[in-house]
Amino acid sequence: MDKIIIEGAHPLQGEVTIHGAKNAALPIMAASLLLDGELWLKNLPQLSDIKTMVKLLEHLGVEGDLEKGQARLLSKKSKAVEAPYDLVKTMRASVLVLGPLLARRGRAKVSLPGGCAIGERPIDQHLKGFEALGAKVTLEHGYVEVEAKALKGATYTFDVVSVTGTENLIMAASLAKGETILENAACEPEIVDLANLLIACGAKIKGAGTSTVVIEGVQSLQSTEYRIMPDRIEAGTFLIAGAALPGSQVLVKETSVKSLDHLLIKLKEAGAKLKIGEDSIQVTAPKKLKPVDISTAPYPGFATDLQAQWMALMCLAEGSSVIAENIFENRFMHVAELKRMGADIRLDGHTAFVRGVKKLSGAPVMATDLRASASLVIAALAAEGKTEIGRVYHLDRGYELLEKKFRSLGAKIKRVKG
Ligand code: UD1
Repeated sequence: MDKIIIEGAHPLQGEVTIHGAKNAALPIMAASLLLDGELWLKNLPQLSDIKTMVKLLEHLGVEGDLEKGQARLLSKKSKAVEAPYDLVKTMRASVLVLGPLLARRGRAKVSLPGGCAIGERPIDQHLKGFEALGAKVTLEHGYVEVEAKALKGATYTFDVVSVTGTENLIMAASLAKGETILENAACEPEIVDLANLLIACGAKIKGAGTSTVVIEGVQSLQSTEYRIMPDRIEAGTFLIAGAALPGSQVLVKETSVKSLDHLLIKLKEAGAKLKIGEDSIQVTAPKKLKPVDISTAPYPGFATDLQAQWMALMCLAEGSSVIAENIFENRFMHVAELKRMGADIRLDGHTAFVRGVKKLSGAPVMATDLRASASLVIAALAAEGKTEIGRVYHLDRGYELLEKKFRSLGAKIKRVKG
């Protein structure tokens, strides 16, 4: 298994260009199942999750060509409706094919994603929404099956704000008969990106990015070309890394500034200097980092996908901070690893109490999930000495050319094949 080796305490200097958003690309690729005709995508990140989604779509009768950040996806006439366990187990976002398959082929069968490293993550909200649109849902032998001769528009209020749940229902409702109103919908920018793609294909969607989304079903959706929005989590990761070590100055380019509002406020509070352009942000690390509390929440709150990285930063602050994780129940697995590097963190339920230390020191550590791995990279870049990070395949699910990008900023980081 590959390892990443980092020789820390070298300030970062330079600029980095942000890739397309994984969490926008995945639902948009799944939406190809809804179209009559081809979907041409640009600015796709080159990540293992994107390849997994292409494999899944091919399994479902989509002709897929993926090359260098571009894809052509053509949904053929096919009766395939099943997403097998082997694919779903490596990528939970496979559930995003449920809505399109149901709307287009009248049936979908997806292996239940089951437990995963960051908590239980049920999909009951997706299923209740499909039921509201008239689908029959059955759970059997580890698979969930949804079926409907024709979907009918309805009002559905989510009990829990769900990003992929909102996306699945927007996709299903786009081809349903009549009007669907989704209440308590998630407001993430990736949902807006999906809605914009669907609108470009002929869908009638209003209110995406707010908690009420109204979809007027149409008969068919047409071919289009679309550029995926920039990845705000990748951008956030580089900004946090750029704030961690005095002497660092990093310019993050081709990003969506608006989508990072909450993080930017927190970075300023921590003492980082920010220069904000139209689609770029420059961060200069403070001499002394101030402790800043965060509490994760659905967008526009602090993103749970940046919580682990923020914790790495707070380990180096002068003072104590409190980090509350409100989205996932088991998203603190990086804590044990950060402690191996000398961090002072106490956990109490879904809250972490972080007392800043003078320095972190390099150690052998293990990546446990995608964003936890990013937090270990940030900690290692700032730490004194050598850190070896194992199980880096987690990182490859969400960060394209991570070592290369950090190396271009002057970091001493390399991957060792194993
Ligand atoms: C998406 C993102 C993920 C991010 C998360 C929260 C993608 C592909 N992934 O995941 O990176 O961390 O949003 O911002 O976009 N829940 C239920 N029932 C459901 C659905 C969700 O109880 O049917 C709960 C979950 O257990 C969790 C919370 O709602 O506690 C939010 O989950 P959700 O927004 O659905 O996360 P994902 O869409 O899976």
